[in-house]
Amino acid sequence: MGPEVMEVTCHILETAGFDLEIVKPLCGMEAFKAQGNAFPDEAKRLCEESDAILFGAAEGPSVAILVYLRWFMDNYINLRPVKYYPGALSPLKNPDGINFMLIRENSEGMYPGREGDISWLARKMPDYKDPFDRTLDFYGEGKFALRLITRKGTDRIAKYAANLARERRAQGFAGKVTCITKSNVLRQSCGFFQKIVEEEVKKTPGIGYEHFHVDDAARRLIRFPRDFDVIVTSNMFGDILADEAGEMVGGLGIAPSACLGGRNPYFEPVHGSAPDIAGKGVANPTAMVLSAKMMLDYLGMKNEAQALEKAVAKVYGEGKHLTADQGGTATTKKMAEAVLEKI
Ligand code: NAD
Ligand code: IPM
Ligand code: MN
Repeated sequence: MGPEVMEVTCHILETAGFDLEIVKPLCGMEAFKAQGNAFPDEAKRLCEESDAILFGAAEGPSVAILVYLRWFMDNYINLRPVKYYPGALSPLKNPDGINFMLIRENSEGMYPGREGDISWLARKMPDYKDPFDRTLDFYGEGKFALRLITRKGTDRIAKYAANLARERRAQGFAGKVTCITKSNVLRQSCGFFQKIVEEEVKKTPGIGYEHFHVDDAARRLIRFPRDFDVIVTSNMFGDILADEAGEMVGGLGIAPSACLGGRNPYFEPVHGSAPDIAGKGVANPTAMVLSAKMMLDYLGMKNEAQALEKAVAKVYGEGKHLTADQGGTATTKKMAEAVLEKI
């Protein structure tokens, strides 16, 4: 479904007359079918040479693109705004005024999966004793996954979070960082993350700080969604909470994101390839359009970004051209046309 929402988003950007040169290299499933490679060198070169990258969604062989853009380019910040546009179909009784930023550490933690056989680990670490004083061979057949939380990885995301809270404070938001971990269980790795974030935030004058365990945070998001300003968390917690938070403001069809901090930033919806609706022309293009809005902001095209966001907000406000996930009957193209008309 990536190509469907990408096509209409590019159509909006091109037809609105924004000063952009958009190149569309062959990649993804189309490239895989034609050349047996979802990410040909030419596409890679264009990603390296462009000013910013707009990305649809990956599944199967196309995940190679995401791996490149995220890890090879070292885009360690995954910024996922959670903002309610009146008219969007939220499951909450009162979603008005929800507006916060979820920062997901994007380079380490449980990603990219570092896994193996417990028997291999047991041979490598014969002296390791777990909290029950057992060596690893006690567990027999099974798998392990490594979770890495590094000084470098945590320092840089903590600095970004503190700075974003400072900037938002200047814009009239609370200016508060909420750090989310599971430090009651993962005392070392989550404890390390929590300590570094807390120290960094407390160095920033005027910025509030709080910490919640991820289970409690998942509940607070639903119960007190307006209490959040800037959330910072490790990779997999951020992945999960972003889908939850996206749903609170109307669903994955609306949730955009930016991957920043590396060689070249890229912008993508929070959602995936939605196999259940792919090819039907009914996917909500908003998440892709708002990801393009984040790209325009990054490129310094503030007026264009604002025009795009206002147009989206108007389409939701009027409620006449919404896709099925929002309770409407509009197709992807029809909703995108409505956004374009508002611009
Ligand atoms: P998904 O996000 O693709 O879909 C989850 C649900 O949300 C589905 O019911 C889907 O129809 C709905 N949905 C998603 N986007 C929508 C939209 N724009 N409009 C309306 N409804 C929408 O998650 P999944 O089903 O777990 O994953 C499918 C594939 O996508 C997997 O291969 C997964 O690995 C991949 N994925 C890729 C990315 C990415 O490229 N960044 C992100 C998430 C998942
Ligand atoms: C996301 C996706 C990815 C992730 C997958 C496709 C690797 O769910 O961008 O949220 O887990 O980070
Ligand atoms: Mn995800």
